[in-house]
Amino acid sequence: MTALLAAESISAGYGDSRAVVDVSFAVDAGEVLALVGANGAGKSTLLRVLAGAHRPTAGRVSLRGEDVTRVRDFERNRMGVCLVPEGRRLFASLTVRENLEVGAGSRRDGRWGIDTVVDALPMLGDLLDRNASQLSGGQQQAVAIGRALMSNPEVLLLDEVSLGLAPIVIDELYESLAAVRGGGLGIVLVEQDLERTVAVADRIVCMLEGHAVLEGTPATLTHEQITDAYFGHHLAFSDGGPGGASAKGASSW
Ligand SMILES: Nc1ncnc2c1ncn2[C@@H]1O[C@H](COP(=O)(O)OP(=O)(O)O)[C@@H](O)[C@H]1O
Ligand SMILES: [Mg+2]
Repeated sequence: MTALLAAESISAGYGDSRAVVDVSFAVDAGEVLALVGANGAGKSTLLRVLAGAHRPTAGRVSLRGEDVTRVRDFERNRMGVCLVPEGRRLFASLTVRENLEVGAGSRRDGRWGIDTVVDALPMLGDLLDRNASQLSGGQQQAVAIGRALMSNPEVLLLDEVSLGLAPIVIDELYESLAAVRGGGLGIVLVEQDLERTVAVADRIVCMLEGHAVLEGTPATLTHEQITDAYFGHHLAFSDGGPGGASAKGASSW
C-alpha cells in the first residue's frame, strides 16, 4: 500500500551544519506518528522539510506515492499537507473567526469548516469574535490547530503544540486530536512529553542528533528504550556517531 506521506532518506541542514541525516518513515491515513527527541535533534527541521518549507539536501518526500520534494510549501498545502509550526503565529489584530477563515485560504473540499472545527475544539466556541491578542496560550494553540484544519488537510504536522500550556489545557487539546484523527487524517506529531506521546501515538520515531535511532509502536517499545534513545544512553555506535548500524532496531538494547 502506498503511504499517505513518506520521508525517504531525508537529509537536511543549514549551510554546512547537518540537522537531519538519512531519516525515513511513512505515515498512513488515520495514523499518528510521533517524533521524539531532545532539543536540537532535528524534529522541527524534518517537519519543515515535509511541509515544503525547507529544502532537503538529499532524499525524497512523497505524498500518496507522488514525489513532492520540489513542491513549494503553499502548493504542498493545497495538496493537503499542513504544518502547525512551533509558536502560534496568529494574526493578532484579527478575530478568532477571521484567523480560522485565513486557514481556509486554499479552499480544499472536506468536512472542516468553522462549525466542525468548533465541534472538535469546543474551547473556541465562545471565542469566535474575540481578538486573537486577547487569548490565553492554550486558546491560541487551539486556534492554530483549527486554522490548519480549515484547509482540510490530509496530513497534519504538529510541532510542539502543547509547549508552555497548563496540563489541563493540554488534556483538552489531546482530546480534540482524537476527534481530528477520527476524520482519517495522518498526523505527524512532535511532543516533548513522552508519556503523552506514548498514549496518543500509533508509531514512534526517536531522533538523536539528526538520526532516527529507534522506531516502533508503543506496544513494542519500552519506556526505557525510548528514554535511552532520547538521551543517547547505551548506544554503542559503530561509526562514532548516532545512527550507526548498531543503533538501529531493538536487537542492540
Ligand atoms: N534557522 C536555523 N539556522 C541554523 N541552524 C538551525 C536553524 N534551525 C535549527 N538549526 C539547528 O539545526 C539543528 C536541529 O534543530 P531543530 O530542527 O530545530 O531541532 P528540534 O526541533 O528537534 O529541537 C540544531 O542543531 C539547530 O541548532
Ligand atoms: Mg523543534
